[in-house]
Amino acid sequence: MAPQNRKRLNYGPAKYAAFHLLLCRWMRHYAQRGQFHYVTLGGTELRDIQSIHYVDDKCAAGIVSFESKKNEYELACGTRDRVHAIGLTVDVRHGDIFTFERIADGPHLFFIDLKGSCVLSDYHEKFADLMSANHIRAGDALLITSHLGARRGWVKLLNEYTDELDTLQVVGHEQRKLCFRRSHTSFTLFRALHRIRYQDAIELRCFGCIEYRDKSPMSIFGYTVAEGTTRFSNLVNEAPYFHVRRGLHTP
Ligand SMILES: C[S@@+](CC[C@H](N)C(=O)[O-])C[C@H]1O[C@@H](n2cnc3c(N)ncnc32)[C@H](O)[C@@H]1O
Repeated sequence: MAPQNRKRLNYGPAKYAAFHLLLCRWMRHYAQRGQFHYVTLGGTELRDIQSIHYVDDKCAAGIVSFESKKNEYELACGTRDRVHAIGLTVDVRHGDIFTFERIADGPHLFFIDLKGSCVLSDYHEKFADLMSANHIRAGDALLITSHLGARRGWVKLLNEYTDELDTLQVVGHEQRKLCFRRSHTSFTLFRALHRIRYQDAIELRCFGCIEYRDKSPMSIFGYTVAEGTTRFSNLVNEAPYFHVRRGLHTP
């Protein structure tokens, strides 16, 4: 039995409301019929995997959950064994999700369920490596959770993304903050495409940005990956926004 001092990762209902809404949007509009491969950060409880299994116990094949921390990995193994007893098979791996190597051709759904922010780090390099190695490719989709970032100070954050915000012609501190909140993972992914010169090889579309509050303000963003061209302004400006507590954005 796991020692009591090991910390289980539990999140509030707003997180799962956001995740389920985005999953629902992807399934309704973008998922191909048949199975997809699911690659996730399932944490200690594998809750997102359990949700997908509940929706359709046959829709996901080859479910892999990465966990970089040893204690969390051991707790995840216990959860894996419990859910296996009810017919849900998960390959829990101790390691970094960005080392994932694709072995199957079919569409993959990746859930990069970060606790922190997907900016001011080397995430653009990590996504670039996965795309250039073809581990993420046309036909796949990405869900990315990101902290809204203000821990590091808005001035520092916005200065780091001056080029993006100027390209989008967003004027004024409050408008730039708003744009950053609603699109910062797109900034990271576009930097990834730019790094490997894939803007004219891959079309990334942000099919949803859902903001919610758990222990801190967070968002989940959804992306489809197709062959084609990504225009930065389309990637940002065409993303449908929803707030778990306030609903649709209205003027
Ligand atoms: C937000 S929690 C996952 C919650 C889970 N998806 C759920 O629905 O309840 C994220 C987990 O991923 C782990 N993690 C973060 N970045 C990682 C990475 N690059 N590779 C592997 N594990 C990572 C963290 O240690 C944490 O346990």
